[in-house]
Amino acid sequence: MEIDILSLFPEYFEGPLSCSILGRAQKKGLVRIRQTNIRDFSTDRHKSVDDRPYGGGPGMVMMVEPIVKAIRSLRRENSKVVYLSPQGRVLTAVMCEAFASEMEHMILLCGHYEGIDERVIEMEVDIEISIGDYVLTNGCPAALVLIDSVCRFIPGVIGHPDAPYQDSFHQEAVFDGPHYTRPVEFEGLKVPEVLTGGNHKEIEAYRRSQALEKGKRVRPELTLLGEIDA
Ligand SMILES: C[S@@+](CC[C@H](N)C(=O)[O-])C[C@H]1O[C@@H](n2cnc3c(N)ncnc32)[C@H](O)[C@@H]1O
Repeated sequence: MEIDILSLFPEYFEGPLSCSILGRAQKKGLVRIRQTNIRDFSTDRHKSVDDRPYGGGPGMVMMVEPIVKAIRSLRRENSKVVYLSPQGRVLTAVMCEAFASEMEHMILLCGHYEGIDERVIEMEVDIEISIGDYVLTNGCPAALVLIDSVCRFIPGVIGHPDAPYQDSFHQEAVFDGPHYTRPVEFEGLKVPEVLTGGNHKEIEAYRRSQALEKGKRVRPELTLLGEIDA
């Protein structure tokens, strides 16, 4: 997969994209991520990218022309332009999996200030994605969340191929089960005996019951109440 990020602060991404799983995925050539500074497409001598909103109101709005030019410099036949926006469809695990398998080239547009001129959305944006029902200062953190959560589903990015499908939101129980590692006892709290007993059927049943109980308790709206017995 290829990802182009359009923002006003490419340096924002340097640390998060260069380390850990995403850093390794790029080194292995599983995903290619490039940065573009929208300011490079500004046409005036001050390199302006924002202006006051028509109709008044607080804050500045990102201008249509530099963004459209930046997008068009990158767009190919197989590109999808994703605008990170609080007004988009809220990202889910199912969407992340679909993006990983269907999208060959994502152009991620990060807004700043009060957002972008609406005409960019009409002319160039294929899909608006929100990372949750709250407002960020800019789209860069949302782009990072999208990249991270989508890349997990690209084969080879996560060591164990089944791992992303055993995590929360890919389970009938909504959540993954609880995890423990050494030591077997810490400040009086012991690892549940069933997990150290070696009986795989019992272990699976225990994890499932714990996951079901937590799913029902914390996210009842996502759990098929009545059909699942915790
Ligand atoms: C301060 S926000 C603009 C909010 C806009 N005035 C509104 O109320 O819908 C600036 C930028 O942050 C990004 N952003 C803010 N919240 C977001 C969210 N929940 N998901 C994705 N992107 C978000 C968008 O790119 C947006 O253009």
